[in-house]
Order: sequence, then structure tokens, then C-alpha cells
Amino acid sequence: MSVRHIRTKAVLATSAAMALALTACEGEGAGASGPDPEADPEDLTVGVAMPTQTYERWLNDGAAVEEGLEEQGYNVDLQYADDDIPTQSQQIDQMITQEVDVLIIASIDGSALTSQLDAAADAGIPVIAYDRLLTNSENVDFYVTFDNYEVGVNQASALLYGLGIFDENFEEADDAPEGPLNIELFAGSLDDNNAHLFWEGAIDTLQPYLDDGTLEVPSGQTDINQAATQRWEQETAQERMENLLTTHYSGGEELHGVLAPADPLSRGIINALRNDGWGDTIEDGLPVVTGQDAEIASISLIAEGVQHSTIFKDTRLLAEQAVDAAEAYLSGSEPEPNDTETYDNGEIVVPSYLLEVEMVLQDNYEEILVDSGYYTEEQVETGQL
Ligand code: BGC
Repeated sequence: MSVRHIRTKAVLATSAAMALALTACEGEGAGASGPDPEADPEDLTVGVAMPTQTYERWLNDGAAVEEGLEEQGYNVDLQYADDDIPTQSQQIDQMITQEVDVLIIASIDGSALTSQLDAAADAGIPVIAYDRLLTNSENVDFYVTFDNYEVGVNQASALLYGLGIFDENFEEADDAPEGPLNIELFAGSLDDNNAHLFWEGAIDTLQPYLDDGTLEVPSGQTDINQAATQRWEQETAQERMENLLTTHYSGGEELHGVLAPADPLSRGIINALRNDGWGDTIEDGLPVVTGQDAEIASISLIAEGVQHSTIFKDTRLLAEQAVDAAEAYLSGSEPEPNDTETYDNGEIVVPSYLLEVEMVLQDNYEEILVDSGYYTEEQVETGQL
């Protein structure tokens, strides 16, 4: 067996572990030596593990990664895991058994795949974490994502703008209300590292206004553990909003805004508010609700003045980065990170490529999403792709 491309980590591994790995892979294709840079693309396969098909974005991500890799001539094994951790673990186990040459993984629980990552390292399969960091393992080679802290900063800034605390330059407005204005806070799934970064970015931005009394959280639920939405499920967010309304707002209290970390959750929250009679649009009393992902249904609601904002993360560019990184490994080189400091996964700092994000509001959705050709005017009107 040739040992052309032992990765740094394999070199660092103890000789006992190496011996085990080599025995385990004896007679197999990729083996501990990693992808063969001399191989024809059609003899190479990339395993792509995606979390769920219930969010529009992951469907787009999967399709774009698959298309990009196939354009380069590679085979693709694309699997969705229904947001079920054992399913995702099995899918990755199987990809490793079938000797894929590179793995691209968007995890459900970033810390639940350590044994799969060990097995991938033993088999010399480079692992690219896709959008969500893989944690507690040294066997993660590269990470492609967006500036996740900045997502949170943008969500909170959009909220402050919607509440009149920030002006159109996202600086404190001269005529900012003294408050107190009432807000409620929602976070994503605690097993997704991104959820923590979105939260940190948002809370850091809101904190001065919580501290000086401009903002208040009447439920008192200001801890991420109270605000979290397990598996990012829309229904869970809708139910929590319903409970908050019943418990804290049934006596005529006002609610001015809601920090929501992803569009499906925003829509669940808006459903709860509309069902409870807060109004159909922001103009007629609906609180200002933020979002993320620029899903078509939410862009349609933003155009209609129902949802206040979202964050556009161009998943086509993310897919391109993942494809480029996979190609680098498959051709015997290494992808170029643009950040080697931020993403400490508990074991190593994972070299990363971070993409920028854009805040989307009623004023700019046309320019960002329609003029650029990302969505057509008709899609925005119907709310469907
Ligand atoms: C992604 C978001 C997405 C969320 C729920 C996060 O890891 O970064 O874009 O909305 O998961 O799927």
C-alpha cells in the first residue's frame, strides 16, 4: 500500500493506532494514505451528509454541492438524515465502509460523530465540516461556513432597527424611544455550534439596551437554555411563543419584537402571534420578528410587511467552497483557509473558510435577492420556488 498522502494527524497518531489503521485498511482502495491524486475523477467519490430536508436551505446546499462535484467529474453519495442522529451516524459509517475519498458533513449534533471521524481518519478520508462545526475531535480537516457571530450581530441590529433604536445606518437613532420596549428571545438547537454563535452575536448587540432599560424581556427568559429550540423545529418555536403569550401577555402587555434565529422558526412565531390577534402585518400591530436563511416563504412575508428581516447566506458560494476544498484534497493538495483562529472545536482550531452575510429587510430584498437573480419576482409573490 502506498503512503503518499498521510495527513498531519496521521503522522501525529501513535504508532499503535497507525498499525491498527493500516491493518484495518489492508487491501482496501483509499486506505490510510488518503485520496489518490493520480486517480481519474470518475474513480473518486465524495460522501455528502446533510441533516434534514425540512429546511429549504439544506436542500439547496445538497443540490449545489452535488452539482458542483459532478461538474468536476466526481461521483457523489448524497444522504439526508431526517434530523435523526443515529441515521446520520449510520450513513457516514456506510460511506466510510464504501471507501468514499472525501467526506463533507453538515452535522445534526456536531459532537455526536467522533467515532465516525476517528474511522475516517484511520481510513485516510479527509473530512470537511459543512456550515456546522464538528466538535470534540481532532479529525476535522477543514470547515466552510459563514461568519456566524456576524449573523447574530445582524439579527439583533435588524431588530434594533425595527424597534426604532437604530437608524438606517445602524447607529443609535437621534429619536430612539426611551422604552422600555418588550422583546422575547429565541435560539436554535443547542447541539448546533452555530446556535451559540448566533446567540452570542445577538446578545452582545442587545446587551447595552437590556442593561439601560431600553429593552425588557418580560418572560425573564434570557438564557440560551431557556430560549433554545431543539432541532430547530418550527412547531417547537410556535408552541413556545404561544406559551409565552399566554403566560406573560394575556393582560394587555405589549410585545414589540422577537429575536428569531431562522426563518421557519420566525414563521412559527408569526403564526402564534397572528393566531393570538396581534395583527396581520407589522403596520397593524404584529411585533417585529427577525430571521435567517432568506427562505422564499419568508422573503414573501418580508415583501408583505409581515416578517421584519432575515439574513441572506448565499449557499451557492458555500457549496462552491466545499467543492473547491474537496477538489484540493482529491488532487493531493490542501484547501486555503481565510481564518485559522476562530473555530476551536474543543480539540483543535479547525482551519476555516468564512463567507460574509447580508441583512435583508423590506427596503433591500429586491436589490439583494431579485435584481441579483437569486429569486424571481413571481417567486416572491407566490412565496414558492
Ligand atoms: C444554519 C442555519 C439554519 C439552521 C437550521 C444552522 O446551522 O447555519 O442557516 O437556519 O442551522 O437549519
